Amino acid sequence: MDDLSLSLLDICMNSAEADASTVKASIMTYPDDHKLEMTVEDDGVGMENDVAEKATDPFYTQRPSRKVGLGLPLLKHAATNTGGDFHIRTRPGKGTIVRAVFHMDHVDMPNLGDLASSVLTFVLHPKTNDFTFTYGDVKNTFVFDLNEILRIIDKDDLSNGSIRRYIYDMLQEGINMKEGENHEDIEGIKTVTR
Ligand SMILES: Nc1ncnc2c1ncn2[C@@H]1O[C@H](COP(=O)(O)OP(=O)(O)OP(=O)(O)O)[C@@H](O)[C@H]1O
Ligand SMILES: [Mg+2]
Repeated sequence: MDDLSLSLLDICMNSAEADASTVKASIMTYPDDHKLEMTVEDDGVGMENDVAEKATDPFYTQRPSRKVGLGLPLLKHAATNTGGDFHIRTRPGKGTIVRAVFHMDHVDMPNLGDLASSVLTFVLHPKTNDFTFTYGDVKNTFVFDLNEILRIIDKDDLSNGSIRRYIYDMLQEGINMKEGENHEDIEGIKTVTR
């Protein structure tokens, strides 16, 4: 795995491929514990126990086109390499929660990468509708809610370059938000300062 942003995109794509109508992704940091937690929750088809057990094996995939599936094994490897944890909770017909915890001060801690690009790429995926991305720490939380955006524009408008740029900038601003800043005036962004 190159960085966390690419892994987040992989895991969200799994949810889209599992026909999820709602996908909730989050990256939260807990500086006091030196931990970062990534979760992706969906209401897709879920997995039977045997599939869930095999899902983190790189030689398991339900893709007919190739023999390896790397999204989950790479995330598990990246998280456990830092001394962190990895869990999948899933129920057939109900959905799936993938959770990875990283120890941020470990030498093998991956970079965050370009989170705004990954989130935008998932927003542009044709199957994505009800999608939220939460990013923050114990003091500040930024919530990007695609439903809020789709209240002001049509899904087709996402093909427009300036609208993509607008969403990208909005994501960058939320992700780079400093404590105490207020972005309430921007549609699609909610910030909670605790
Ligand atoms: N959110 C999910 N809901 C239902 N099944 C899932 C979900 N995520 C993964 N799976 C199952 O686990 C398998 C392995 O996932 P993984 O992301 O590791 O590989 P892949 O998606 O098959 O291929 P790749 O990610 O390399 O494109 C998938 O083929 C799918 O069967
Ligand atoms: Mg995958």
